[in-house]
Amino acid sequence: MKHVLGIDIGGSGIKGAMVDLKKGQFATDRLRIETPQPATPKAVIKTVKKIVEHFDYSGPLGVGIPSVVQNGIVKSAANIDKGWIGYPGQKELAKSTGCDVTLLNDADVAGVAEMKYGAGKDRNGAVMIFTLGTGVGSVMFIDGKLIPNLELGHMYLQYMKHDAEDHMASRIRDEEGLSWKEWGARLNTYFQHIDALFSPDLIIIGGGVSKKHEKFLHHIDVNAEVVPAQLRNEAGIVGAAVSAVS
Ligand code: BGC
Repeated sequence: MKHVLGIDIGGSGIKGAMVDLKKGQFATDRLRIETPQPATPKAVIKTVKKIVEHFDYSGPLGVGIPSVVQNGIVKSAANIDKGWIGYPGQKELAKSTGCDVTLLNDADVAGVAEMKYGAGKDRNGAVMIFTLGTGVGSVMFIDGKLIPNLELGHMYLQYMKHDAEDHMASRIRDEEGLSWKEWGARLNTYFQHIDALFSPDLIIIGGGVSKKHEKFLHHIDVNAEVVPAQLRNEAGIVGAAVSAVS
């Protein structure tokens, strides 16, 4: 199968596109619909169904969601409605769309795409990928093998007095009007902890903000090699599509 639909459920938008799996690129324009508020399972699934119908699609469907997902069951809900916790998301999405659905954590699927087509391609050892957006997604691959459902955005750093992501997500830079230097200093503190705890060989920084990497990457001073993601905002959709057929 050459073209597969990938959908990325985000805190502010739900996005989908047909993905060319050979190239790891969109084969169509991306469709984005505002995430319904509150982002309850019912409301979100209705939006996903609209995207599937827009593409007139009935094949295997990959969906990323900002939650821990185990065996198709959603186990956490940081930036979506708490009604998702314990919800059989994969089964209900399949029922509503008629597609064979694979539901996984949004950062995990973005990581899969980045390892297959982007900055992590052909890289062994410990590779960590972080997506900086509404929340902070975290992914780790050991010799190309994914360790699913890491939640390092919720690492608690005492001096921050709350979850790390509420201090250094891309959303916080906007909300607090931080300069690149101020935000970069927060990233540096966070990634120095990550570096000390995991000793990764490579850290890949993704999320929409990674297209402005030259404004902040130099503030991150760690032992690991640090590079921007190559697929950026497309990674979530591309990786969801890849995961649907692998
Ligand atoms: C969620 C993660 C998610 C990340 C990025 C965090 O708040 O807990 O599951 O991967 O945001 O969306």
